[in-house]
Amino acid sequence: MAECVHLLPRRWFLLSSLLLVAAAAAAAPVVHGYGGLTVGFYEKSCPEAEAIVRKVVAAAVHDDPTTTAPLLRLHFHDCFVRGCDGSVLINSTKKNTAEKDAKPNHTLDAFDVIDAIKEKLESKCPRTVSCADILAIAARDAAVRQGQWSKDGNLYEVETGRRDGRVSSAKEAVTYLPDSFDGIRRLITRFASKGLSLKDLAVLSGAHALGNTHCPSIAKRLRNFTRHHNTDPTLDAAYASKLRRECRSERDNTTQLEMVPGSSTTFDATYYSLVAQRKGMFHSDEALLRNDLTRGLVYQYMSSQHSFLRDFGVSMVNMGRVAVLTGTHGEIRRTCSLVN
Ligand code: HEM
Repeated sequence: MAECVHLLPRRWFLLSSLLLVAAAAAAAPVVHGYGGLTVGFYEKSCPEAEAIVRKVVAAAVHDDPTTTAPLLRLHFHDCFVRGCDGSVLINSTKKNTAEKDAKPNHTLDAFDVIDAIKEKLESKCPRTVSCADILAIAARDAAVRQGQWSKDGNLYEVETGRRDGRVSSAKEAVTYLPDSFDGIRRLITRFASKGLSLKDLAVLSGAHALGNTHCPSIAKRLRNFTRHHNTDPTLDAAYASKLRRECRSERDNTTQLEMVPGSSTTFDATYYSLVAQRKGMFHSDEALLRNDLTRGLVYQYMSSQHSFLRDFGVSMVNMGRVAVLTGTHGEIRRTCSLVN
């Protein structure tokens, strides 16, 4: 009893502190964002920022519908190396080989679209909108679905407020970017190291609904896979023969193969049907079938495009939060390919 009496005030103190915290949380405005990121960060400083990005992306996609894929991929390759800090856009110098020039980035594209956006933004709101945010907004705009969720086709609201990094290293790109020959365990580890879950892995891989690949990225799957198998045994045999006919040589860097034949400019869930039929382009795509959770999601998204598109927005927001620089960290680059 004496012990109870002794403990009572402390318990009351704890309880009342908890109640105070809860009351303060209830009274606080709902902050729709994360660690310095918010939806509509440029509302006051550059109200037209998102509209300008949308306009330039729409014009580029109108001229060439295949532009959506590289825009989406750029944001991913940015976020996986040093976080979403625009480091993928920096040019190499005499003293430094930048991410851009790392092997996994040789087929990145659409840098000209990002530069065109930056030029427009700099003339409207000088030194205000970061290159990292331009990548995030452009990626969101690349995956629009007219008539879906919102009237402008956005699948999700993009958080902004990132600032640009000053470092870009080709070596780091080679270390941190997933490889098309990665198996499921490696992929899970790579995503986990960025704070991303198995679900994020399964959902974000659905970006391979868009775009193309080049023969070197699948060459090993088609010929001399291992000592025991000429072809990757996880790849459908008839599909492998078709791909082999298209890719005559492993050094062929000009032939482009649609990730999803016939639908590589439409952002939808057909990727998952291909994966389920063991016709995913990469070993890393097929790897999704090697884990109970990711396999379950492949089948779920295959039968419900709605749930894929909904989850894709959530996972893109998660990816856009990876190791961001906010507040007074980093800088707002004047030119995306050059540190200030
Ligand atoms: C899960 C691990 C991933 C691996 C191993 C991987 C690997 C690759 C490879 C090898 C290519 C083709 C490169 C070429 O031959 O030109 C590619 C293309 C592409 N990737 Fe991924 N990727 C992964 C995840 C992602 C994610 C998370 C996204 C975006 C959210 C993404 C978006 C794309 C797009 C859109 C393309 C087509 C690009 C184009 O047509 O220009 N990928 N990926």
